[in-house]
Amino acid sequence: MARLLGGWQTGGRPGSAALAGALRLLVLDGRLPPGTALPAEREVAAALGVSRTLVAAAWDVLRAEDLVRTRRGAGTWTALPGPGRGPDDAGEQPLDLARAAPAAPPAVAHALDAVRGVFAAELAGHGYHDYGLDVLRERLAARYTARGLPTSADQILVTNGAHHALALVLRAFTGPGDRVLVEQPTYPNAIDAITAAHAIPVAVPLLDDGWDLDGIAAALRQAGPRLAYAIVDFHNPTGHLLDADGRDRLARLAARARTPLVVDETLAELDLRAPARPPAPLSGPGTVITIGSAGKSHWGGLRLGWVRADAEVVRRLAAARHAFDLGSPVLEQLVLAELYADPEPALAHRRAELAAQRDVLAAAVREHCPDWAFRVPDGGLSLWCELPGPIGSRLAVAARAVGVRVAPGSRFSAHGGLERWLRLPFTLPGDRLGEAVRRLSLVAASVTGSPGSEGTDGLIPVA
Ligand SMILES: Cc1ncc(COP(=O)(O)O)c(C=O)c1O
Repeated sequence: MARLLGGWQTGGRPGSAALAGALRLLVLDGRLPPGTALPAEREVAAALGVSRTLVAAAWDVLRAEDLVRTRRGAGTWTALPGPGRGPDDAGEQPLDLARAAPAAPPAVAHALDAVRGVFAAELAGHGYHDYGLDVLRERLAARYTARGLPTSADQILVTNGAHHALALVLRAFTGPGDRVLVEQPTYPNAIDAITAAHAIPVAVPLLDDGWDLDGIAAALRQAGPRLAYAIVDFHNPTGHLLDADGRDRLARLAARARTPLVVDETLAELDLRAPARPPAPLSGPGTVITIGSAGKSHWGGLRLGWVRADAEVVRRLAAARHAFDLGSPVLEQLVLAELYADPEPALAHRRAELAAQRDVLAAAVREHCPDWAFRVPDGGLSLWCELPGPIGSRLAVAARAVGVRVAPGSRFSAHGGLERWLRLPFTLPGDRLGEAVRRLSLVAASVTGSPGSEGTDGLIPVA
């Protein structure tokens, strides 16, 4: 916690308001999730080199805002204010840029209509399919084969989303204290899954133009990770794509280190170039476990993903799964199988929509926030914006007051920092994106140059 609080007194006096402000940011931007136990006041005071009275006063401020709760004998923990007290409770639907997840294309509803009959027939069975429905496994395998990686159905395990797939892999391949190599920045929920598995993320920074393969080679040698996790297709949040040579080299490095490589392909189908020309899925001489998702290419609400790996690894993961859940819902699997019977039309629709929204978002940022720097990605779901100062978290918190939710760069870091960055997904319709950026630009003007996290008047530390 002391590390996360970092420069809490920067730019002002080290008073209780500054400490409360810094902790408020950590809770509201998600770095200290609700329910996180806070150390005893005397320990916090010792770690920060301040008086216990100052810590107690800061906690009192946050308790009044319902961001910290205390029960005698049980301790003190972080919380989020209930409905009606939240800072983005502006009486309207927030413009949600915190989730990079588009609405479903019409094809999902059509697929649902098409599978009613097959679903009725399934009702005669028990409905538990440990590895997933055969028809879906076959179609997902066929998609890999079409993308350049020959795959059979016994190499596919259907899961409840890519996130579930990662949790399964962590459960099967890591133990407490093991290291897991990740990119910096990376997908925040992957960091949370690694931490929840009691493993330790070891971050290798991405460079301006993508992967630092020499850095990854060194980290594989020096940190001896039990697993490496990479998002090589339109990386979330930067949008980078690792080319075919890079994929080969990464696979060889992991194989030489005997580190299983988990490749998160959640965004692989979102190549927004015309024509789309994604490299073949990463494969290699060592253990490569590919995880995929229906969430971005089709719809997150299907809650379906999968693992593609050697049949032996698939069996191991299916066995690990029994401790959590007993299979994925049949109706959703039938819908996804229907979509993969002829995947191109729905994917083409998705890509065209995202490419148009990306261009609207890029134009809006150029117009309203001319001092924000970003690269227009060839695919994926977001712009990764470099801000004119280390204001990411403050901006994200302040944005809630104007009905915009957005994820600051710090959420994408396993080790803090990245305060100069903000992820802006282009997953909302263009008019809503434009309005969100307009509001963000106003808020950015108000937090730029503010003295830090000293605000005490209400939940939002805007100067
Ligand atoms: C890189 C990455 N992996 C995994 C996920 C989670 O996918 P799912 O919804 O299938 O669990 C996401 C969702 O944003 C993501 O961007």
